[in-house]
Amino acid sequence: MTRTLRVLTVIGARPQIIKAAAFSHAVSGKYKGRISETLLHTGQHYDANMSQVFFEELGIPPADISLGVGSGAHGVQTARMIEGVERELQTGNHDVVLLYGDTNSTLAGAVAASKLHVPVAHVEAGLRSFNKSMPEEINRIVCDHCSTWLFCPTTTAIRNLQREGFTVERDVPATMDRPRLVASGDVMYDNSMRFAEMAAHRSNLLVELGVRTNGFILATVHRDHNTDDPVRINAIFSALLELHQQHALPVVLPLHPRTRKMMSSLLAADVHAAIQAAPDFHLVPPVGFLDMIALERGAKLVVTDSGGVQKEAYFFGKPVVVLRPETEWVELVEHGQAILADADPGMIAAAAHRFLNDGAPTCPPLFGDGHAAETICEILLEAHG
Ligand code: UD1
Ligand code: UDP
Repeated sequence: MTRTLRVLTVIGARPQIIKAAAFSHAVSGKYKGRISETLLHTGQHYDANMSQVFFEELGIPPADISLGVGSGAHGVQTARMIEGVERELQTGNHDVVLLYGDTNSTLAGAVAASKLHVPVAHVEAGLRSFNKSMPEEINRIVCDHCSTWLFCPTTTAIRNLQREGFTVERDVPATMDRPRLVASGDVMYDNSMRFAEMAAHRSNLLVELGVRTNGFILATVHRDHNTDDPVRINAIFSALLELHQQHALPVVLPLHPRTRKMMSSLLAADVHAAIQAAPDFHLVPPVGFLDMIALERGAKLVVTDSGGVQKEAYFFGKPVVVLRPETEWVELVEHGQAILADADPGMIAAAAHRFLNDGAPTCPPLFGDGHAAETICEILLEAHG
C-alpha cells in the first residue's frame, strides 16, 4: 500500500495563512488519508488580526508547531526561523516542505529544507519584480532555486523561470537539480472563489462603516519601500486625501501594523490631522479575510501596494491603482485592469481619475480554474508514487 505523503507547510505572514487554506481544505477533504499536513507557523505575524482570525474564519486547523519568532531585523528574524524549521525537519517526519510566496518565512523554509535534502514545493513560484531592492525579490529567487516543484500561477511566471535556466521537463523524476515547473493556477483564486459567498453572508462591514457598494475607495499600504521612506509615505497619504476630497468618495484603509507605526513617526502633522478630521476617511485595524473580500467586491476603486490585494481586486472586476513602480502581476497592467502609479501624487490622481470615469476593462481569466490546490496535491502524490 502507498504510504501517506507527509507535508510540512511553513507559514508565518498574513497572506501565507490565507493561501494555506486552499491546500489544507484539499488535504482534509478529497486527499484525506493520502496526504497528511503538519502546519508550522513561524510567528512572523502574531497580532490576532494578522494571524488567528484567518485560522478561525477559513477553517484552517491550528498550527502544530509555533516558533513564535516575532518581529526583528531580517537576519535575526530569518535565522531564528531557519533554526526552528531545521529542528522540526530533523525529526525525519516530513517528505516535502510546502512554501508560499516570498516572505522571510518562505526564505527560511527553503534554506532549512534544501540543506537537509527535504524537497521543497514552492507555491507562487516564478514571480519577479526585477527589483532586487525588495526583500521579497531576494526571497523568491532563493526559494525558487532551492525548490523541486515550482507551482507557477501565471504563464509569465513560467517564462521568468525559463529565462533563469529552468526547463519544463515532465519525463524525469523531479529533484532540486532537475526541478519541475507546473502551471498550477493560483491558490488565491481558489480561495477568493471559495470564500466569496461566505463573505456575502457574513460580512457586515460596509453597513458598519456606512459606505455604499460601488461608492468608496479601498486602499492598503504596507511595503517597507513606501512606509519607511518619509517622502513616499507622505506622498501616498496626501494623494489618498486628495482623491477623497476631489471625488467626494469615502476611503476605507485597513492599516497594516507596520504602516500604523510609521504613520505616527513619519507622517506630516497636517496630513495626519486632515485624515483624522475627514469623517469619511476610515482608517481601520486590519480586517479578516471575509471583510476584506466584502470591501474588495464593494469598492469602486482599489489603491494598493499589496500583491494579494491587486489580484483579488482583479478577481472581483475592480480597477487597481498600484502604489509601486513595478508589479509581479504584469498581466493586470497589460490588460488595463491596473495602472502603475508609484508613490507619485500626479500619477495616482491621473490613474484614479481615469478608472473612476471609465471603469475597468473586462479581462480574461488569468489565474487558473479555481482548482490550483488540487493540481498541487496531484503532482506531489504522483511524485511520491
Ligand atoms: C511581510 C513580508 C511581506 C508581505 C507582508 C504581508 C517579509 C520580508 N515581508 O512584511 O513580503 O507582503 O508581510 O503582510 O517577509 N507587526 C506587528 N504585528 C504583527 C506583525 C508585524 O506589529 O503581527 C509590525 C512590527 O512592527 C514589525 C512590522 O510590522 O516590525 C513589519 O513586520 P514584518 O513581518 O517584518 O514585515 P511586513 O511588513 O509585515
Ligand atoms: N488582507 C486581509 N485583511 C486586511 C488586508 C489584507 O485579509 O486588512 C488579505 C488580502 O485580502 C489578501 C492578503 O491579505 O488575501 C494580502 O496580504 P498583504 O497585503 O498583507 O501582503 P501581500 O499580498 O502584499 O504579500
